[in-house]
Amino acid sequence: MRIILLGAPGAGKGTQADSIKSKYPIAHISTGDILRANVKAGTALGKDAKAYMDAGKLVPDDVIVGMMESRLAEADCKEGFMLDGFPRTIAQAEALDKMLTAHGIKLDAVVSLEIDDDTVVSRLTSRRVCKQCGEIYNTVLKPTAKEGVCDKCGGEVVQRDDDRESVIRNRLAVFHTQTAPLIEYYTQKGLLIAVDATGGKDAVLRILEKN
Ligand code: AP5
Repeated sequence: MRIILLGAPGAGKGTQADSIKSKYPIAHISTGDILRANVKAGTALGKDAKAYMDAGKLVPDDVIVGMMESRLAEADCKEGFMLDGFPRTIAQAEALDKMLTAHGIKLDAVVSLEIDDDTVVSRLTSRRVCKQCGEIYNTVLKPTAKEGVCDKCGGEVVQRDDDRESVIRNRLAVFHTQTAPLIEYYTQKGLLIAVDATGGKDAVLRILEKN
């Protein structure tokens, strides 16, 4: 299975990816997670990306495309992958098409997680993430048993720097102008599956299994 999870910030791409991964052992590639790992490790890529991320802007296409070329060439992608947060611009989608053609592979589907802006703001202001294992929580819908401590690994659970409301609004504006055109791009290719992302956590999995 080779799929793209497309959707606004907070649409549930990471959450749905976790649910798909629990059943299908394919590589989950989140550009946001790769970038945050680089910021944490203080790499040159992380230093370049941090200012864009903190402001809710996109990291430049050439940086992301170079990063994804290396990642998609890794062995764990051979049997399939789920792209979470990539592509986010038409230029990135065209670059991905070239990479896939070069590897002689095709996408199976692009899942568009559809959600309104108010629900995004409410979900993201209440999201918390484990610094150690990346498990996603929500103070309202999925709180940790002990405040600030990950149920899975005991790591520290925190709010992401870009989950402040002003930054969330910038990320939404970027989504509507730069990423939403991909819905039409993949509809034209006959790959798009639109899913109501306000439904339950396993909704996407059920829809994928039907298709
Ligand atoms: P990234 O980390 O990819 O952030 P994002 O796309 O804004 O997505 P999020 O991780 O915020 O949301 P999500 O859809 O995964 O939602 P989640 O499952 O966590 O990117 C961060 C930054 O990196 C970007 O702003 C940019 O600067 C840079 N970047 C990354 N990729 C790039 C690229 N390709 N090009 C350029 N720059 C790039 O869920 C959110 C909350 O909702 C959680 O609390 C969860 O518990 C809850 N929730 C989820 N599903 C449900 C449900 N069905 N019902 C109720 N609650 C739910």
